[in-house]
Amino acid sequence: MLKKNDSNYYSMNDISLAELADKYQTPLYVYSADQIRKNIQHLQSVLAKYFDSYRIQYAVKANTNPHVLKIVKETGIGADCSSPLELRLAKQAGFPMDRSTYTGNYESPEDFKRAVESGVNLNLDDYHRITDLKEMGILPEFVSFRINPGIGRGGFEQIVTGGADAKFGFPYEETRKAYQTAIEAGVKRFGIHMMTGSNILEPFYFAEITQKIFTIIENSINDLGIELEFINIGGGLGVPYTKEEEALDLDQSFKMVSEVFKKNLPNLNIGNPEIALEPGRYLVANSGVLLSKVTHVKRSYRNYVGIDAGMSTLLRPAMYKAFHDVKMDGQEDFLSNEPSDHYRICGQICENSDIHPLDRSFNQPKAGDLMLIENAGAYGFTMSSNYNNRVRPAEILLDGSSEKVIRVRETEEDVLKNVPDFELK
Ligand code: LLP
Repeated sequence: MLKKNDSNYYSMNDISLAELADKYQTPLYVYSADQIRKNIQHLQSVLAKYFDSYRIQYAVKANTNPHVLKIVKETGIGADCSSPLELRLAKQAGFPMDRSTYTGNYESPEDFKRAVESGVNLNLDDYHRITDLKEMGILPEFVSFRINPGIGRGGFEQIVTGGADAKFGFPYEETRKAYQTAIEAGVKRFGIHMMTGSNILEPFYFAEITQKIFTIIENSINDLGIELEFINIGGGLGVPYTKEEEALDLDQSFKMVSEVFKKNLPNLNIGNPEIALEPGRYLVANSGVLLSKVTHVKRSYRNYVGIDAGMSTLLRPAMYKAFHDVKMDGQEDFLSNEPSDHYRICGQICENSDIHPLDRSFNQPKAGDLMLIENAGAYGFTMSSNYNNRVRPAEILLDGSSEKVIRVRETEEDVLKNVPDFELK
């Protein structure tokens, strides 16, 4: 997606990133619509190869810009939402709500009301909420449950979403009780869901969790006489952030998942559920680059290269010690064993965690140099904040040769607009 010319200047969709940075200033998120379509089409083609029917639901939390949602929606897939505004945006973008899911947790009555009103499939994090929904008089005809299988895996400790230390789902031992409760309350249609971790690159993992769901179904609900409309194995499809990581082999992953379906389904009494997936990162991460300029280079006990995109712009390095490849525009990738060439990349935020993991070697970086932070299309802008009263960045969407500002840079006035009786002078 990113291309480098002979002088080591980068372009995306053949548009110069240096020119975009000059035109729109930094920090700046730039996405390629073409790359998003390519990612989705690849996943669709792999699923179509192994399954008669399937549901892909984009986890919109990865990148909720309404213009990005529109590109995703046009590919025909559904959405997975986790808040009322995400639901509203998904609906407005035109996602089919009956092929979309609301997977919340610890929902307020208002969250539930909005979800049910939207017509989305409700995926409950706790089956006790059936009682709350019934009492509110809004128990839908369809319900799915998020089961915690007691195990989880993920790229970092913080993104493991299954197992004894995860706040999500309910213990798998209570699966039967959950569906019985729903049946008694009057629920007529069902799904099942499990999401145990994010950014997984091992193809076996997906077959493993699918088998786990089938085992839970067989041991807990097979004799209840219900049909499952889908078996949702969650998101979690990883992307390589480092050169050493290998891309997830989708074909191998879903070939194995389909074998698990073929082995288990004929022996069960649950109808003919579709496989459902809710990937976020896989669809959008590599479509985005974050452009940032060097603000100052300091030689202290270590060398620091300060950039204008800190943890308020891209939180992942500070929050998870997540690695993002960083290229310097106009400079060949520089590998040096000299400590004097090793730099720690940091932002301008007053937190010592506002750094990128692993020192990188750069050749004499200086203020004004343009840095490209790769794989910034997922959980980038969506996790940004106004910490230290920094404004949120702008976002640009490239589609073929066209470029569009899909979010203007916030202003200082924007940051303060909700403070009553106050005007910024
Ligand atoms: N479904 C549910 C219910 C989820 O909670 C998530 C992500 C997804 C789907 C999508 O997962 P994905 O396919 O993107 O792995 N902020 C972290 C990732 C946290 C993911 C939380 N849930 C990061 O920047 O790596």
